[in-house]
Amino acid sequence: MSRGLILAIESSCDETAAAVVERGAHTLSSVVASQIAMHSRYGGVVPELASREHLRAVVPVVREALAQAGIVLSDLDAIAVTSGPGLAGALLVGITYAKALAFAAGLPLIAVNHLEGHIHAVLLKEREDQSQPVRSKAADAPGPASRLASGLAPAFAAAGESRTPDTDPALALVVSGGHTHLYLARPVRGAWQYTLVGRTLDDAAGEAYDKVAKLLGLGYPGGPWIDALAPFGNPREVPFAFAHVKTKLHLEGKAPRTKAARTAPIADLDPHFLFSFSGIKTAVLRYVELHHLRPEAEARATLLFTGAERPGRPSVEALRAACSQQTLDLIASFQHAVIGDLLKKTFAAAEALAARRILVAGGVAANRELRARFSAQGARRGVSLSFPTLALSTDNAAMIAAAAWPRFLAREFAPAELSADPSLALGV
Ligand code: KG4
Ligand code: ZN
Repeated sequence: MSRGLILAIESSCDETAAAVVERGAHTLSSVVASQIAMHSRYGGVVPELASREHLRAVVPVVREALAQAGIVLSDLDAIAVTSGPGLAGALLVGITYAKALAFAAGLPLIAVNHLEGHIHAVLLKEREDQSQPVRSKAADAPGPASRLASGLAPAFAAAGESRTPDTDPALALVVSGGHTHLYLARPVRGAWQYTLVGRTLDDAAGEAYDKVAKLLGLGYPGGPWIDALAPFGNPREVPFAFAHVKTKLHLEGKAPRTKAARTAPIADLDPHFLFSFSGIKTAVLRYVELHHLRPEAEARATLLFTGAERPGRPSVEALRAACSQQTLDLIASFQHAVIGDLLKKTFAAAEALAARRILVAGGVAANRELRARFSAQGARRGVSLSFPTLALSTDNAAMIAAAAWPRFLAREFAPAELSADPSLALGV
């Protein structure tokens, strides 16, 4: 009898990942080979290098995922792969390999949207929690697959997280390095349908974290470092403000300036649910210049991240010691403002759409202040909040296998000519 085993491959950005998930609800293995060490030398992802690294890693990563799951290719029921959005060359490596494997093993191939994958990382955790009511907290700790630095252990409590079945509509905030999108997700006959409700007009929230971290001489990706340092600063020291986002310029026919803004139309979206994070990045830059913090940032980067003598990955203590109080206050204020804006608009959209549950997914969902403030607000408003495990917040393949399961049941298989779609949109 079929066990409902799906092998998924994810290679949309800078992680080569493979996972085996049973019936979209039980993770047998999840392997992630991170390219971060390589890209951090350049302060961001270099697409050509990413494709080359995926090419190198994809075979051993898939082999490891099968070995850890204790299965062989012939035990599988289907192969799933991320088909977009993402870097074209990077996506193609995963797609080509998945196609070849599926062909060789006579298995169906399922194409998965990366953004839907992030949403399913949350649903997967809910299903796993439901099937194992008393589960070890260790499952939430960053495993070997996690991108969090050692020393950045999760200090957040699971407060406010609650369990709801896959039957209620949910508002999903996908907040990562490439996206800040709000969707209304509705379960329809075992599958999910998505309606775009809001999104960023320019930078994604994770992108703002990465750019501000770079400016302040912190490591790449910046989110985990800012997350770790923010508790040492005063979040009210620098009063960053988010102006109301105006859509007029875009509606009058001006081309959106960034890739994120091109992937989804905005004409019908309520401006209250639109984000913009390029302004705060510029405001941080101005603050740094005005208060002469640049030499400190450059010295910090050389000492801890880019210098020839750097002693590997620094500890949070070493990084904190290399930051003035003014820098720590700036970091805390930046994070407080970004999370505040995400919180305000997400809860406003949930209220407007009468959604009683919110799913937060994507790399920034690993953030401790975000989890704590969203959970507290949810508890106040009677809205249930769900997050992925820390390891499944950032890119991984278990979420792709989970998202593929309803498609497998519906026999929605990919055509032989499946190709990468770098700007694939989710929903309508
Ligand atoms: O989902 P993801 O792994 O890749 C994309 O699809 O973009 O997200 C990566 C992003 C990066 O911008 C990174 O800085 C951010 O997620 N990130 C965080 C944290 N961990 C990762 N941002 C804030 N706090 C964190 N703890
Ligand atoms: Zn992602």
